[in-house]
Amino acid sequence: MTKVITYGTYDLFHEGHYNLLKRAKALGDYLIVGVTTEHFDENRGKLNVVDSLMDRIEHVKETGFADKIIIEDHVGQKIEDIQKYHADIFVLGSDWVGKFDYLNEYCKVVYLERTRGISSTMIRRENYELIRLGLVGAGRIANRFIPESHFVSGLSVEGVYNHNLDKAEAFRDKHELAFATDDIEELFSKVNAVNIALPHELHYEYAKKALEHGLHVLCEKPLALKKAEAEELFDLARAKHLVLMEAVKTAYAPGFIRLLSMAKSGVIGEIKDVEAAFTRIIPDKEVREFTNADYGGSFTEYGSYTLLPIIKLLGANYKSISFRSFCAPNGVDIYTKVHFDYGKAIATSKTGINVKSEGQLLISGTGGYILVPSPWWKTEGFEICYEDFTQNEKNYTKYLGDGLRYELADFVAAINGTRDGEDFKLTRSESIAMAEVMEKFLAERNK
Ligand code: CTP
Repeated sequence: MTKVITYGTYDLFHEGHYNLLKRAKALGDYLIVGVTTEHFDENRGKLNVVDSLMDRIEHVKETGFADKIIIEDHVGQKIEDIQKYHADIFVLGSDWVGKFDYLNEYCKVVYLERTRGISSTMIRRENYELIRLGLVGAGRIANRFIPESHFVSGLSVEGVYNHNLDKAEAFRDKHELAFATDDIEELFSKVNAVNIALPHELHYEYAKKALEHGLHVLCEKPLALKKAEAEELFDLARAKHLVLMEAVKTAYAPGFIRLLSMAKSGVIGEIKDVEAAFTRIIPDKEVREFTNADYGGSFTEYGSYTLLPIIKLLGANYKSISFRSFCAPNGVDIYTKVHFDYGKAIATSKTGINVKSEGQLLISGTGGYILVPSPWWKTEGFEICYEDFTQNEKNYTKYLGDGLRYELADFVAAINGTRDGEDFKLTRSESIAMAEVMEKFLAERNK
């Protein structure tokens, strides 16, 4: 009996997939098809898969060609499978020519001609209208945004707004965008979604304007500096059936999501303490973090990161909150420590722009602790530790590039309605809770 094995994502199952499976089956007597998991696809940078794993398996099954369907979830698995199932032939489409020659050591490798003119990527593009995105602001974040956007299909960054036209034009030229403007109405009229990357105090105003204009909004953190403002923005988005997302990149990173679900599933018992730190000594003292006396400082800059695990793990119903800051002569905090008391648990946030500390996230429980070393906000590896250290366990999930691609992929899926279920990654009430902490902090600091 000749056994044939092949692999694929099989998203939005199409004729090309059908033809390949049919020909693969014809090469032998028994066909094994490996279907990739979401995690595996995410790790290799495929962020736009629409169909769930179950649906993709079902579609492969319906062809009637597969004698066995397996799930592919890690690099190197092909070698294991070929040996385990005694596969004689490994098949893949011609788009992969050469890439799997190393498998010749285990079985025969055959690349079959790809069906022309069709691919999942193409169908995704045709099924969903291209999201034309405008950048509001041309600063540091906006610069990082463009290269990351290239990893997300279905989205095109069209133009940029800046109140200083020279800056906007320089940004347009650097990133080869279609237009630059200092007229926000012009930008709004040319796009259907925006990324707001302005100084903190302008987020609310511009997010509101964009929503009123009927545009989807991905707003840099903090979304708002007052609870009522955040509520108003979400209400407005809901009333107008628009997507509003706060761009706290960590919330959308696969490693962070994994960390949260492990912590919540009780592996370290009851969570008693969450300590999150994000500090940096920013060398350039002329940046807005230092010069903006009203809204600069460490907590408004990095607090959205440190609040994220605290609120995700312990909720927003803290019994008390207290702030302690060291401030520069103009009043901005160069270091802030926030204490949360939840009664049954406590939490601490440490942020600094001119004080350096260890940038770790430490979650302590009645059965052990989870340590995510610096930079935990780009969550990759973390360790679950127990009293009996022989039981300790290391976890690793890739964090690709600057990580903005994850929030962008989620934004695109939310607009296209292809996101499975509600957005649990950063909910409306969590964003509002973060705005409330910002409001309390600024009221006290600027007293
Ligand atoms: N395939 C094919 N002809 C096509 C498309 C895919 O023969 N027109 C083959 C691929 O070469 C692979 C298998 O089908 O062996 C599964 O491919 P997959 O990556 O799931 O499909 P694509 O349509 O190429 O997906 P994407 O656009 O997301 O890369």
